[in-house]
Amino acid sequence: MKRDYCGELDLTYKEKSVLLKAWVHRVRDFGKFLFIELRDRTGIVQAIYDKKKPLELKQEYLVEVEGTVKERPHEQKRKDIKTGEIEVEVNSIKIISKSHELPFSIEREELLPGEEIRLKYRYLDLRRPKMQRNIKLRHRLFQYVRNYLSEKGFYEVDTPLLAKHTPEGARDFIIPSRNFPGKFYVLPQSPQLYKQILMVSGVDRYFQIAKCLRDEDLRADRQPEFTQIDIEASFVEPEDIYRLIEEMMKKLWGKILNVNIDTPFPVFTYKEVMEKYGTDKPDLRYSGEIVDITERVKNRGMRLIDGIIEKGGRIKAVITEEILSRKTLKEFEEISREHGLPGILWAKYDESISGPLSNLNFKIIERGTVIALGGGKEVYPPLSIIRKKTGKFQEGWKFLWVDRFPMYSWNEEEERYEPEHHIFSMPTEDTLHYLETGEIEKVEGKIYDLVLNGIELGSGSIRVHEPELQEKLMRYGGIDPEDFRFFLDSLKYGAPPHGGIAIGFDRLVALLAGEDSIREVIPFPKTTSCQALMEGAPSRISNEILKELKIRIEE
Ligand code: AMO
Repeated sequence: MKRDYCGELDLTYKEKSVLLKAWVHRVRDFGKFLFIELRDRTGIVQAIYDKKKPLELKQEYLVEVEGTVKERPHEQKRKDIKTGEIEVEVNSIKIISKSHELPFSIEREELLPGEEIRLKYRYLDLRRPKMQRNIKLRHRLFQYVRNYLSEKGFYEVDTPLLAKHTPEGARDFIIPSRNFPGKFYVLPQSPQLYKQILMVSGVDRYFQIAKCLRDEDLRADRQPEFTQIDIEASFVEPEDIYRLIEEMMKKLWGKILNVNIDTPFPVFTYKEVMEKYGTDKPDLRYSGEIVDITERVKNRGMRLIDGIIEKGGRIKAVITEEILSRKTLKEFEEISREHGLPGILWAKYDESISGPLSNLNFKIIERGTVIALGGGKEVYPPLSIIRKKTGKFQEGWKFLWVDRFPMYSWNEEEERYEPEHHIFSMPTEDTLHYLETGEIEKVEGKIYDLVLNGIELGSGSIRVHEPELQEKLMRYGGIDPEDFRFFLDSLKYGAPPHGGIAIGFDRLVALLAGEDSIREVIPFPKTTSCQALMEGAPSRISNEILKELKIRIEE
């Protein structure tokens, strides 16, 4: 098929005849001539039509144009687009398909409607040059990742979408079975168990660009179905996974953005990041750390502070050289309240000293502002926000690893321990004994997260390959091992030590595309309320089908 692409035309095509199949991006009538901007997935080119023959063209008509590439007069050349030095003189034009009146303008980004309209007419939204770029970027990333991991000796293996329900993490999407009424499959939240079983099967190195499905509450960076670069390997330590992923990121950033990423990435323990940044996914583009000022402020004449410390609390602070305004301090007060805390303790040290902390009988710093909160873990979320707001921002790509996450956390409501990451992670050698002494929350796992600019980009761990230990860890986490019997059984037949990671593919694409929301890089995403607006899902199912499944709907 002879075919040329709009965005590829430049002076190398001068005086050549071209055949374009493109959408009418914009038409302008200049009396004798029509200026038609033609668009396909590669870009936009300007065509000139001599109106000797009448022509009725509207936006988004699909046309076939046969024409000759001409160099534009010097003063009409545009440097900002690739095709800016040429235009296409139309010899013949044929309308292939007409378009209805558009629900929104594809040509004018500044008139973009709300997201609901964009998602309802996603086929039109995806025609926008920016969305075409995102689709292309996603495609390139698929290819790079596949090639990279294949070269490293990983096999791409696909795993089932119809899986068995197991109690872990988020809620499952449930699929009724027609052959076994009353029984259900579930859609996998991730291929976790399958990939571990593949290690038992001797696959040794596995990857999959996998769909994961979770019936959870959504936020900007969460979707009910999303894509992971899922990886598992036998006989690995965390450092092997770190090196594999660091090289992958370095190559991707080099290829896609032409940016050099320094490797290896720094590694922090969970404890360290919580103490320094108040979050397990710190954004290191902001300077500044949270400091513990407990020892410095105790017994200095403030009853409130001594009371907190006596009860086992700590005094944590963000300190800045700047003299913050009343307005800013009010905002911080508000942030603290939103997190269920009474307010903030602060002091400004300028020509004069002001704020509650000025009642201390000494100056914490010579000049600047101290914002402090007292108590336990609850001070971290507000302080992490305040740290960012007072820190200096520097543009860049700040990768880090966070390791040694706690294996379990205490669930206040249900009064029991539950797994923090997932129950398949191996405890570290030096904390395993806390299982025996009952200090469950002190057990740390060989669990690691990859964080980039404050976003959790990936998560993984070294797994348990001994069935007895695995069963024990499940019991401590309040999970019935019987639900995982098939998996525990598989570990009884010479299971190799293994570990892995999953990188959030949509987040990766969004970061590289410079998009804030993963919905901008997923071709057909769901809304935040989990609906597919174009096709209208979820939807009702007819009674006949429900009958066959032996399902009755309670209205
Ligand atoms: P986890 O649940 O942490 O780990 O997921 C790994 C990475 O996937 C991305 N991610 C999401 N992206 C979009 N929407 C979501 N709802 C969503 N949930 C997670 C994040 C996250 O870091 N099986 C384990 C991995 C392992 O242990 O190997 C797992 O799924 O970037």
